Amino acid sequence: MFRRLSSPLDVTIRALRSTDSAVPRVQQLDNRCFQGGERSDIVAEIDRPFTYLWIAALSADPQCVVGYILTWHVADELHILNVATDPDHRGLGVGHALVAQAIAWAGQHHVQSVLLEVRRSNLAALRLYRSFGFFLRGLRKEYYGDGEDAVEMGLVLDPKTGDIVASRDEVRLEEVSWSNMTGVLHDK
Ligand SMILES: CC(C)(COP(=O)(O)OP(=O)(O)OC[C@H]1O[C@@H](n2cnc3c(N)ncnc32)[C@H](O)[C@@H]1OP(=O)(O)O)[C@@H](O)C(=O)NCCC(=O)NCCS
Repeated sequence: MFRRLSSPLDVTIRALRSTDSAVPRVQQLDNRCFQGGERSDIVAEIDRPFTYLWIAALSADPQCVVGYILTWHVADELHILNVATDPDHRGLGVGHALVAQAIAWAGQHHVQSVLLEVRRSNLAALRLYRSFGFFLRGLRKEYYGDGEDAVEMGLVLDPKTGDIVASRDEVRLEEVSWSNMTGVLHDK
């Protein structure tokens, strides 16, 4: 069972600009955390007008990037494409801080839904999103290149207040204990 290793790491979140000298480091982090088609071209992403990309860097060393979150703002939706924490800094609250940043931004910009897909086997990410109140929207069969299913998750926000609106799961995934995320996911 996952247990946080120690108190949260002291990180500062900032929006990544093309002029930031940390850009190569963010690309390296992406390459380290994702395979093939799930990797992102960070330089190309920064240039897109609808991309919002935040990085987490050690407060004591702003060039030491330990995580990032990549999102697209489309109409009244914010899509989380990727969130990643450097493997040497996991379990220290970095992923939580990055998702919290994206949700806070969404709440300030009249977003109605925060949406994402996550590998069915990715229990760490499933649990991370669930801890914010993301609900299960559906399953996309064989969504990934290796044939793994994607779980679609969403978070509904009140566009006036930015508050999270409680939502019911639309897909039932049996044999899952959200407290420890053991077991196998089964759709109904
Ligand atoms: C998913 C990921 C971003 C989590 O980052 P992290 O910095 O280690 O996460 P945090 O320390 O902030 O943990 C936040 C919550 O996530 C969940 N979590 C994180 N790691 C977990 C693990 N190994 N097992 C179970 N739950 C986990 C927990 O709910 C945790 O909250 P808690 O400490 O209150 O229990 C990280 O594991 C990662 O980079 N994975 C590879 C990339 C990836 O798969 N990204 C998701 C793409 S959709």
